[in-house]
Amino acid sequence: MLLEVGSRSGRYGVHIEPGAAARLDALLTAARVPARRFVVSNTTVWRLHGETFASLFSEEPILLPDGERHKHLQTVSRIYDALVRARADRASAIVAIGGGVLGDTAGFAAATFLRGVPLVHVPTTLLAQVDSAIGGKVGVNHPLGKNLIGAFHPPALVVVDPTVLGTLPRREFRAGLYEVIKYGVITNRALFDRVASSLAKLFARDSDALMAVVTESCRIKASVVEQDEHETGLRRTLNFGHTAAHALEAVTKYRRFRHGEAVAYGMLIAAQIAVARGTMPAADREALSGLIAKMGPLPAVTDIAVEDMLEAITHDKKIVAGQLHYVLPTAVGACEVVPDVKKDEIAAAMRSIGMPATP
Ligand SMILES: NC(=O)c1ccc[n+]([C@@H]2O[C@H](COP(=O)([O-])OP(=O)(O)OC[C@H]3O[C@@H](n4cnc5c(N)ncnc54)[C@H](O)[C@@H]3O)[C@@H](O)[C@H]2O)c1
Ligand SMILES: [Zn+2]
Repeated sequence: MLLEVGSRSGRYGVHIEPGAAARLDALLTAARVPARRFVVSNTTVWRLHGETFASLFSEEPILLPDGERHKHLQTVSRIYDALVRARADRASAIVAIGGGVLGDTAGFAAATFLRGVPLVHVPTTLLAQVDSAIGGKVGVNHPLGKNLIGAFHPPALVVVDPTVLGTLPRREFRAGLYEVIKYGVITNRALFDRVASSLAKLFARDSDALMAVVTESCRIKASVVEQDEHETGLRRTLNFGHTAAHALEAVTKYRRFRHGEAVAYGMLIAAQIAVARGTMPAADREALSGLIAKMGPLPAVTDIAVEDMLEAITHDKKIVAGQLHYVLPTAVGACEVVPDVKKDEIAAAMRSIGMPATP
């Protein structure tokens, strides 16, 4: 399956196929990726999948430590150091093999080294396959905030191989699946229903089940970013569930939740606001909460004060000129961006999912 994504710096392909990782060499050559290819990966991914990739590259792999806490400028510097030492030039390319953290970090190095060298994403987590590898956003964290340093650097190619998800821990897999559900809720009821009806197969990493949901999710992400690369309108709908999610992550210092888990709560909160406003049928909220419950446990929120959440939301960088644009579903499969959601409505929805009013 080949999707094409238009971006300001040209079109790029998203190649989705079981076994694509083993054919990476041929895919890179077919996409005219320069012949000096520097793999950037992390120690975990390389331990599990290095054997598949190592023989495809003549340059030493650049291996980074694993974890969001390493997504910062010093790690980017390590990539520059390795590239300079190997005399990489503008006829070189970076091939980022890993999850979203790795892709964002290596992608930022690719965006900035020699003012930009070609980048190939080989995403190895479900979240990276359906979300972070497509769209051109790259970047790292600053000690004072997530993703504060970044660039737009659309890849030359994205290679998605669902079979690499076989080694992904169940919790990581589930975290990615919440983002798939997000796509279903905002634009595609059929995708939502497909996840609900193939949950057991998905958790068993059945190749056909994975192909179907990964492909549809990539199609949605690709279509949205192609129409709105710089997030002025449509791309905002991808923030469904993310207003409260970012607040949850911030108030728990990024330690309690996988990002997708926080998004699961964020979607429940947004759905509750919509139901309370009368803009979404309660049955659709039930379908969402039912599916999320069926997927397995989420970390508790019963000790997280609504008050602290509201404080964190007002610090969200997505607030435009003091206006909070809240993405609310109108059904499973459709959504709207609403500029006038009041604090009280958000607070009520948070209390309804079990968060106490004060610490
Ligand atoms: N650029 C974007 O548009 C965008 C979009 C969404 C999220 N992000 C970023 O993505 C990051 C989160 O990405 P993530 O959820 O992939 O987390 P991650 O990159 O930390 O990966 C999760 C864990 O899984 C491991 N792993 C990766 N592939 C594996 C495999 N096949 N088998 C076993 N283990 C594997 C990783 O080493 C890591 O320990 C965040 O930093 C977020 O800001 C970026
Ligand atoms: Zn997200």
